Amino acid sequence: MPSETRRGVIERYRAFLPVTDATPVISLQEGSTPLIPCPALSREIGGGFEVFAKYEGLNPTGSFKDRGMTMAISKAAEDGARAVICASTGNTSAAAAAYAARAGMECIVLLPAGKIAKGKLAQAFMYGAKVVAIDGNFDDALRLVREIGRGGRVAIVNSINPHRIQGQKTAAFEIIEALGDAPDLHILPVGNAGNITAYWLGYREFHALGRSTRLPRMTGFQAAGSAPIFHGRVIDKPETIATAIRIGNPASWDEARAALDESCGAIDIVTDAEILAAQRWLAEKEGIFVEPASAASIAGLLKCAGKDRCAGCPLPELRPGAKIVCTVTGHGLKDPDIVDHHDFRALTARPDRDEILGLLGLDGS
Ligand code: F0G
Repeated sequence: MPSETRRGVIERYRAFLPVTDATPVISLQEGSTPLIPCPALSREIGGGFEVFAKYEGLNPTGSFKDRGMTMAISKAAEDGARAVICASTGNTSAAAAAYAARAGMECIVLLPAGKIAKGKLAQAFMYGAKVVAIDGNFDDALRLVREIGRGGRVAIVNSINPHRIQGQKTAAFEIIEALGDAPDLHILPVGNAGNITAYWLGYREFHALGRSTRLPRMTGFQAAGSAPIFHGRVIDKPETIATAIRIGNPASWDEARAALDESCGAIDIVTDAEILAAQRWLAEKEGIFVEPASAASIAGLLKCAGKDRCAGCPLPELRPGAKIVCTVTGHGLKDPDIVDHHDFRALTARPDRDEILGLLGLDGS
C-alpha cells in the first residue's frame, strides 16, 4: 500500500476533520482498508451488479472502531483527559483500550458479562484496560457510562461522542476515492447505529463538495432478536449470536432513521441462521473471514436478492452495472468460539501417508 494512504485517517483527511495544529494525533495508522471486489457474491445475487466488501477487519485492532477512536482519543488528549470510559459489545472496548494505551491514558470499559467474544476480551485486557463486567446488556452499560461520564472526570468515547462519528465517516471518503464515485447501494450491519450515521455524513459531505455524483441508498440489517429500529420499539432483552450488535436501544437511533429516510434506503432483519450461513459463505467463496455481526450485511444482501426481500428494498430498482458496497465491520478472528456453531469436523488419521491419501480419496492417483 502506498505510504501516501497508510498514515491514519486524521492525517489522510485532516481538512475534513475537527482537528487543529494543537491536536495531538494518536494514531495506529488505521483506515485505508481494502475495498475488495466480490465476483462470487456478484454472480450469486445476479442482476449485473458489482459487489464490493469494505474489509474493516484489517484495521489495527481488527474493526472499524479504530477510525472513530483515533479521533476520540486525540481530542480527549487535546482536552487534557487522563482517563476514558466506554460501554461496549467488544470492539469499541478493544479500540478504546489500544488508543488509550498509545496516549498514555487510563481506559475503563463496561461490558455485558459473558457476552463478549473471546478475542475482543483478550484485547481489552492486553491493552491494559480496567474491565468491568456487569450483569446487564450493552444498553444498561451505556446508561451507566453516561451517568459516570457526567461527573466530568473521565471522557466518554462511545459514539455519543461526536468525534467518533467524525472519524468513522472517513470510510465513506475512501470508498468514493476507490470507486471514483459513491456506490449505488451501501449495506451495513446496525447495532448502536453510529456507523450508518457516520457513513451517511461522509457520503453527504463528499457529495456536497462535488467529489461524487450520487448518494448511495443506505440499507441496514439488524439481527432478528435485536432489531429495535426495524420494529420501531426498544427491545428490552436483545438476543443474537452476533454479540457485537446485541443492542436493544441504539444511541444514534434518530440519526440512523434520518439516513434511511433521506437516502431512500431500508432497514431489515436477518436471523442468526442466515448470519452464520453468510459468514461461512463469504469465507468459503470469497476468502474473506468476518465476525458474525459483519456477516449480517452479506446475509442481508443475499436476502435482498432472494424472494424474501424487505418492504422498500432498493435492490430491484438498481440498474445493471450498479455498484453495491457491503461494509464487513470486524475480523473473523475476533470471535473464535463461533466455530462451535458451524458443523466443522476435522478428518482424523494416523500419521501414515497411505491412510491420509485414502481418507482424502487420493489413493491410486
Ligand atoms: N459490526 C461490529 C463488528 C460491531 O462491533 C458493531 C458495533 C457493529 C457492527 C454495529 O455498529 O453500533 O455503529 O451500529 N459494536 C459496538 C461495540 C456497539 O461496542 O463494539 P454500530
